[in-house]
Amino acid sequence: MKFASLILLILGGIIDSLSAERNEVVGSADSVFAFAGEDVILPCLVKPNISVVDMKVEWFRLDQEYSVVHLYEDHVDRNTEQIQSYKGRTELNHQQLQTGNASLRLSAVKVSDEGRYKCFIQSSSWSDDTTIDFKVEAVGNPPVITVDGFDRSGGLHLLCESEGWYPEPDLEWLDSKGVRLSPESTETQRNTDRFSVKHTFTVHQRDGKIHCRVRVRHHMLEALISSTSNMYLYWRTSVIVISVVIVIAGILISVAVFKYREHRRLQHENSRMKSGNQSTRRKPRRTREEQASPH
Ligand SMILES: *[C@@H]1O[C@H](CO)[C@@H](O)[C@H](O)[C@H]1NC(C)=O
Ligand SMILES: *[C@@H]1O[C@H](CO)[C@@H](O)[C@H](O)[C@H]1NC(C)=O
Repeated sequence: MKFASLILLILGGIIDSLSAERNEVVGSADSVFAFAGEDVILPCLVKPNISVVDMKVEWFRLDQEYSVVHLYEDHVDRNTEQIQSYKGRTELNHQQLQTGNASLRLSAVKVSDEGRYKCFIQSSSWSDDTTIDFKVEAVGNPPVITVDGFDRSGGLHLLCESEGWYPEPDLEWLDSKGVRLSPESTETQRNTDRFSVKHTFTVHQRDGKIHCRVRVRHHMLEALISSTSNMYLYWRTSVIVISVVIVIAGILISVAVFKYREHRRLQHENSRMKSGNQSTRRKPRRTREEQASPH
């Protein structure tokens, strides 16, 4: 009798350990995404499902040295060693632990939460783990297009700016047909954990819409500027008006110079006639008659 129960016990132990070995911890093969400020569930399940209430569940960062994100051991959460930035933001659902669900709830996601996490589950006879790649996105402010002036060839100088993005966003200019236009200058700045971008572009075509599009992995914001030929007309008209003014001024100046010269010439001639004698006085009278006769 004793012998038989011993055999049963050993067999049971073997079966137990065999079945436990068939259990595995699974997370997510794909990266988990969340927007900054949101809450997220980092998945971690034991399959086939067994209760993990009596086991140790440890969540930690693989890419940080001092790295406890959440620790559950001896039926309680033990977060004295937890990384400071996770204080008060992690939660294991103890009810879910009964069904082998050790998923971690992380609230008010920060850009600094992005990284690789390990969910490690351990009993006295078994342990397994899974790795989760967690990515954070922060959507910045809508882009703003500023008309920054005109250049000499009549092009409209545009500036597009947007800030508060993570990761580094793509900024692109597109014409009304969606064709990508290459920017003249690009500038990216990183302030703490967010990126701001600034691109310039000069429009030469008349009548059209130019889009400025800022995008990270899953999010896109766009600004639009419509230019009409009036804008160019205004610019060209002002150039024409200025040149017309210059031309008129030029004409007036040359007329004045011409008149002045003419005036001086007549004065000169008059004084010469007055100073001349009688014989020379007849000559101009005759030439005047000669000049008058053909007409
Ligand atoms: C696991 O638990 C989390 C809450 O912690 C829940 O949101 C999720 O749906 C559960 N997953 C499954 C497969 O039950
Ligand atoms: C395991 O999952 C099945 C269905 O998915 C459920 O019916 C069962 O209650 C679960 N077992 C445990 C121990 O949570």
